[in-house]
This record gives sequence, structure tokens and C-alpha cells, in this order.
Amino acid sequence: MDFNNLRINGKRLRETIETSAGIGATPNKGLIRCAATPEDKIGRDLLLKWYKEAGCEVTIDEMGNMFAVRPGKNRELGAVLTGSHFDTQKPGGRFDGILGVLGALEVMRTIQENNIELERDFIITNWTNEEGGWFAPACMGSGVWAGNHSKEWAYERKDRDGKTVFGEELEKIGYKGTFPCSYKEWNIYAAYELHIEQGPQLEQAGIQIGAPKGILCLHWYDVYLEGTANQVGPTPMVGRNDALLAASEMNIVVNKVAHQMGNMVGTVGEIQNYPNSRNIIPSKVHFTVDIRSWDDEHAVKAWKMMKKEFEVIAERRGCPIRTEEFWKVAHAPFDQELNDRVVESAEALGLSAMKMYSGAGHDMSEVNQVTRGAMIFVPSIDGRSHVEVEETPYEDCENGVNVLLQCVLKTADEV
Ligand code: GLV
Ligand code: MN
Ligand code: MN
Repeated sequence: MDFNNLRINGKRLRETIETSAGIGATPNKGLIRCAATPEDKIGRDLLLKWYKEAGCEVTIDEMGNMFAVRPGKNRELGAVLTGSHFDTQKPGGRFDGILGVLGALEVMRTIQENNIELERDFIITNWTNEEGGWFAPACMGSGVWAGNHSKEWAYERKDRDGKTVFGEELEKIGYKGTFPCSYKEWNIYAAYELHIEQGPQLEQAGIQIGAPKGILCLHWYDVYLEGTANQVGPTPMVGRNDALLAASEMNIVVNKVAHQMGNMVGTVGEIQNYPNSRNIIPSKVHFTVDIRSWDDEHAVKAWKMMKKEFEVIAERRGCPIRTEEFWKVAHAPFDQELNDRVVESAEALGLSAMKMYSGAGHDMSEVNQVTRGAMIFVPSIDGRSHVEVEETPYEDCENGVNVLLQCVLKTADEV
């Protein structure tokens, strides 16, 4: 059979994405389907059914990562793996991660209905808790799989409100599997992840397919400040120890340093203020700092500069400070050959393609550390993501899945 003429079923892909969009739907077209919550369970149950209907052998590991396998003719050869995440931000959109999981399923369905026997095993995945918006850090399932955290550490992570523990919640939804969570249990030859771009570059350039050469490094820090609570009315402006005011100045510093240093982004995205009352001076603040760059050293240097300025502010405001490094993923340069294959496959399909970098973090940051990896991007309307209005035209989704199909077919037939 001439694989070059094989195409996925765009109508079926769209219907599958629309079915997913009904699980955890918000009134504004978005989704709330955080990992290890009841909505995640409904999503996973459906995936499991779809994986089985596609004739796959399904394995669920200790972190709840789902693997659906189509055995190849030559099982001792390494497998080709593709997938992404089915969980969302709180709230998130209908495509982030989901396109990669359901695109992989559509590739599997296409291969099955055409009775294609590949040389290598073909595996599609749903990685647990990529978002980390409810249980931090992000890329938790793939991070344990790649050997960067112990499963025990991951199980102990608390939700954003500090009330529930990840391992217990995963067990409650029935997806704490027994298969060891480690890449060492699998023989992987190559991995691809299809994803929406989540930024504006493709749309602005009028290009249909993005082939990222890699992913920026991602550093997460926590900052804790202590102030002195008091009645806001009688307490004079001079001499206050206002932890939120100190944090506000620090937020400006993060933005300023990121601008000054260039080739990086820096963001304060989460803040907890105590006691969070309009008539009490804030006595305690926790906020997060997210720094990303292609240059890991540059990011570390930026953090050191920020920290130095934080200490001056903390001293001046009389608010003792404590900082912690919470999570760090090095920049991920993808495999050159697979990256080229994405562009070649797109062009062979008559699609425009360009090389670029990924600012967003992905499971591929972790997976790429233990095997050869590459990603395929499709445009995001207005470059918006991690929002309910996140949108990618179905035609672009179909294009991306067709590129994924070609990449998978070529790679899984290499001996
Ligand atoms: C993952 O969604 C990220 O933070 O880039
Ligand atoms: Mn994602
Ligand atoms: Mn995301």
C-alpha cells in the first residue's frame, strides 16, 4: 500500500474532539478537566473504550499514564510513541493536549481500518497531569516516567488549595495503575507529539504547520513573604509591613528583568494573599515565578537578579522573605532527523511549514530526555491558549493529524 496517499478521517476527528469538549464543559466554550478529578475519570473512561475499540492493548501505569499499543511485526524493535494530555487548565480550552491525544487516536484508527501492519509497535498515550494547574508541577506523569521525580513525591503533591493529595485522588478515580511508571519498562525508538501552537507565530506568518526545534527551559520558583497584620483604618501608612505591597513590587521586578535581559519570558501567575480581607493589612503572601528561555544559564541568571532585588524590597518593607526552587526542566532540543521529517511530511502533503521554538512546556520536554522526540504544531487563533476561547480551525487540526500519520508511518516502518 502506498502510505503517501493515506489520509485520516477529518469528520471523525472533529466529532471525537467535540465529544471530548462535552466533558467538563464550561458555559464559555472552555473546559475544566483537571487531572485526578471526576471529569478526568469520565474522559479517561471514554479514552479507554476508544482505545479498546481501536484494537489496542491498554496499559495504565502507577501514575495513571495510559498507553494503547498496536503490536508491530517485529516486536523487539523499539516502538513509535505519540500522544499528549487529556487534562486541562482551570479553566482551559478544548484543544490544548486534547488534539495530541485524539489526533494519536485518529492515526491509530486509520492504521487499524486499513489493516496496516507496521514493523514496529505503535503506542498512543495520555500522559497524566501535564497542566499542573491544580496539582503542581506540570508534566507530572511524563516527569515520573522519564525518571525526574519519584512516584512517591508525585503522590504527595497537594492541590492549589492545599486540601487534597494527588495520589489519593488518582486512586479515587480508579486510575492509579500497577504497571511500573518508567521509560525503562518500554523500548521506544522515537516519539512525536502533536499540539496547538498556543502562540501567534504560525497565524501571523500564514503557515499551516510548525516544526519546533525544541522547547524553552522552564523554571518554577516559590516566594513566601511575612508581613504584619493590622486594622487598615487606624494604622498609619508609614511603618507598615504589607506583604502584598512587597509582592506587588516584586511582580514589577520580574517583568522588568525579563524585558531587560531579553530572549526570555518571566511571569508571576499565581498569588495567595492572607488573610485576604479588604480591611486587614496582608500578613502573608505566596506567589510563583515562571521563567523560560532557550538558554538555561540565562534563566538562572535572571532568577538571581530578581532574587537580589526581592531581598532589597523585603528589607525595605520589613517583610521577611523565603524563596524556593520548585521545578526546573532544561530546554529540550529535539531530534534533528525527526524535526526535518515533520517539515518534509507537511510539504509532501502540500502544506506550508516552518521551523520554530516552543515557548509552552509539553510532555515532550520529559519524553525527549529518554528517547528521540519531535513535535508538530498547528495554528492557534489569535495565538490564545490556556483560556476558554482557545480555538484552532478543524481544517488545521486535520492537517496536523495527517502530518502525524505520515511521520508515524515512516518511522514505524524503519528497520
Ligand atoms: C504547560 O502547559 C506550560 O506551562 O507551558
Ligand atoms: Mn498542552
Ligand atoms: Mn497547557
